[in-house]
Amino acid sequence: MLFRPIALFALAASASASIIARAAAPAVAHTPGSLSTLAIQVLETCVDTNLNNCLIWSATTLPVGCTNIAAAGQASDVSSVSTVAGVVCTLFSSTTCTGTSQIINGTLNALAVVGYDNTANSFTCVSS
Ligand SMILES: *[C@@H]1O[C@H](CO)[C@@H](O)[C@H](O)[C@H]1NC(C)=O
Repeated sequence: MLFRPIALFALAASASASIIARAAAPAVAHTPGSLSTLAIQVLETCVDTNLNNCLIWSATTLPVGCTNIAAAGQASDVSSVSTVAGVVCTLFSSTTCTGTSQIINGTLNALAVVGYDNTANSFTCVSS
């Protein structure tokens, strides 16, 4: 079953004069094993520690725009995460990529270790 999150776009706050005038697309959630071959996996968010009970998030391009985790059924329920090589993601406490944040680069088997258990409700990703 595909979950299509509501497209909430967030432009990265930047003081640069050359802000890219396009909103990055959000990622799409998949259950493990159902990833489209056209998409690249960017992030795995899991309700349990050690990457168990997960959703796979894919996108066709980087950066990945603000993606609502709560809308896919993991509201304040993510306990472990993993990015793929070459991708760094930022988790946010609100559903709209605001609030407290936690950068993820690689695998974190227990978000409690960084004080971020059951806190994430949205994310963005960039190439590392
Ligand atoms: C992410 O981790 C990789 C591997 O440890 C490292 O080479 C890279 O610099 C890191 N990227 C960021 C943005 O921290």
